[in-house]
Amino acid sequence: MTHEFENLDIIEIEQEILSTKDEAELFQVEKKYLSKEDGVLSKRLSSLGKMNPEQRKLMGRMLNNLKVQLDEALEKKRKFLIDQKILTKMNSGRIDVSAPANFNLYCEQPGYIHLLNKTIQELWQILDSEEFMVFEGQDIEDDMHNFTYLNTPENHPARSMQDSIYIDKNTISNEIKNDTNIFHSDEFLLRTHTSPQQIRISKKILQHVKKNFKKDTSFDSSQLNFKFASIGRTYRNDSDSTHSPMFHQMEVVAIGKHIYVRDLMSMLAKLMKKFFANDDLQIRIRPSYFPFTQPSWEVDLFLPQTNSWVEVLGSGMIHPKVLSNMGLNDKTIRGYAFGAGIERLCMLKYGINDLRSLYGNDPIWLSKQAMKASI
Ligand code: DAH
Repeated sequence: MTHEFENLDIIEIEQEILSTKDEAELFQVEKKYLSKEDGVLSKRLSSLGKMNPEQRKLMGRMLNNLKVQLDEALEKKRKFLIDQKILTKMNSGRIDVSAPANFNLYCEQPGYIHLLNKTIQELWQILDSEEFMVFEGQDIEDDMHNFTYLNTPENHPARSMQDSIYIDKNTISNEIKNDTNIFHSDEFLLRTHTSPQQIRISKKILQHVKKNFKKDTSFDSSQLNFKFASIGRTYRNDSDSTHSPMFHQMEVVAIGKHIYVRDLMSMLAKLMKKFFANDDLQIRIRPSYFPFTQPSWEVDLFLPQTNSWVEVLGSGMIHPKVLSNMGLNDKTIRGYAFGAGIERLCMLKYGINDLRSLYGNDPIWLSKQAMKASI
């Protein structure tokens, strides 16, 4: 079997990397192979989708090995160049330890946005362009909003899958904990997901609509039609290479008389395709269970690089009990909701293997990733 892969020789590429004299030159080599638009290796990787399964498996493995070697060589050289710079600087005279940090030492172009914030901004913009109102929401929730209103009453087994940090009620001021506009119980915790926002925002919108309704006409909920999203921090008792005790989620909701499963499916596909800038992105749905949606689905994306499916979000049609907890008892009103982990999306888009590095605060790693993301 012959293919284009054969003229990508890792020895030659390594030579090319070794011969770079500074970070700017190294960046050019990186761009040549890995630029999303026209990187030599990126183009080969994206052509995997068009191959037959057998060929894709073989080529996928070879190209991925090559990418790992290429990343390692780039990393090694970048570290070498930085060490050189530090050494030159040290040899050139005394170091003033009281001077402000010089980030130029780490990176030719300082001041990149953190990858997670970049991901959040990108999603926020896409949601905005699809006319969703976007909110952040509160980190501290009560168990009514975090669980009960979402059809997960006390002792429901789904609660134990979302363990979090509970907050001693004595540490919260009376003024806040007794404000019934905010809290409906005195069990406080760091929210385990952004889904409580479904209840909070829908209720606020409903209140607002009712208030503005003309006095002489009765409120007609069948006219309701609104959509919103929430992106923010969430917390769970979880920690490994793909989970962090603090992470971010995005919640997307649409409610109205004419909201159907097809609207849910088309919106989530549109969002993922826009986010990954790939119209050919393959999306798979699987039946699943969430207490607050019925029916429910999990959604996977196909990754040509690893020739595998990866789960990215949970979704469904909002459960009638949840609609009722929002104050919507009109049976003709329905809604969809889906929720995704931001870190997972960020890692998939920018090729990050260990979620913990996003929080590691290593300026070299962070600026390198940010630089790669901006290629
Ligand atoms: N809240 C769920 C979780 O954190 C994710 C989720 C699933 C959100 C289904 C939704 C949904 O809006 O419809 O695991």
